[in-house]
Amino acid sequence: MRILGIETSCDETGIAILDDNEGLLSHELYSQVKLHADYGGVVPELASRDHVRKIVPLIKKALADANTEAEQLDGVAYTQGPGLIGALLVGASVGRSLAYAWDVPAVGVHHMEGHLLAPMLDDPKPDFPFVALLVSGGHSMMVRVDGIGQYEVLGESVDDAAGEAFDKTAKMMGLDYPGGPMLARLAEKGRAGIYTLPRPMTDRPGLDFSFSGLKTAAANLIREQDNEEQTRADIAYAFQEAVVDTLAIKCKRALKYTGLKNLVIAGGVSANTMLRSRLEEMMKKLNGEVYYPRLEFCTDNGAMIAYAGLQRLKAGQYEPLVSKAKPRWPLDSLLAL
Ligand code: KG4
Ligand code: ZN
Repeated sequence: MRILGIETSCDETGIAILDDNEGLLSHELYSQVKLHADYGGVVPELASRDHVRKIVPLIKKALADANTEAEQLDGVAYTQGPGLIGALLVGASVGRSLAYAWDVPAVGVHHMEGHLLAPMLDDPKPDFPFVALLVSGGHSMMVRVDGIGQYEVLGESVDDAAGEAFDKTAKMMGLDYPGGPMLARLAEKGRAGIYTLPRPMTDRPGLDFSFSGLKTAAANLIREQDNEEQTRADIAYAFQEAVVDTLAIKCKRALKYTGLKNLVIAGGVSANTMLRSRLEEMMKKLNGEVYYPRLEFCTDNGAMIAYAGLQRLKAGQYEPLVSKAKPRWPLDSLLAL
């Protein structure tokens, strides 16, 4: 089976061709980062218009790179939600129109299921069941995963998502959007133990997250301290360490609570080097394994949507012609395979 995957939920147009025997045949990504940088964040209307401009040329390129004719495709998967409604509608209308024209099924994929399954694009793949920490720009969740579509959300962010906290703190430090990766780069020059920021909600039970208090503490620190490069790097280090520490404590708690040994991290923040190495160290001590996607599949991409879509298509789950985008869509309402 071969599928076209389309991702347009936010500010990245991601297209991929995936074959269940031959693997990933091609993937294309167009990032709108430059377009939104002047505004310090994603402007939804500009995002939708840019997806319209880029989506068809990228699909053509992905098909050519994969040496694939439309007749060789068995389905089209597109991100149905959650995300920005205008951006979602671009992928949904193009994806469903192509499926209709090519007379193949269309599969509406949950964006967070895409992130969650992204580590499966490479070997070794994690075995079910496992605990997944999903940390992106829009969501932070701890999920118990017993199989594809068998999700129990154990905890969520009550305010900002982890990536959002990175981006907002970076913005306060004068870094460009999206600041997460830049703050991480700045932190590489930072020193441990100079500043300490709070680890929110780690002193009480539960698996929910909150990052707004940490953000405020970081804002105060930035205001109080000078603007020297070393000071900025030390603050970035302290912030990153506080987020990583908080996430690691919650992962450990989730593993203990579920009695599971395997951990998956996915979503944009799973690209963070400090988070990866911290969790690797922790899992070694706990005699478990941590899995994360290769770097380019941590942030939004078409390959993860193709993968999730292919699994559902193989299980016979695709949709009738009538459809609607879902700007809000709880992960634990998905059908189990
Ligand atoms: O998954 P993603 O591409 O989009 C959403 O679904 O939201 O995640 C993007 C988020 C942004 O907030 C970005 O700053 C963050 O992931 N991010 C990082 C790193 N790379 C991306 N945060 C910290 N360290 C990184 N290396
Ligand atoms: Zn995402």
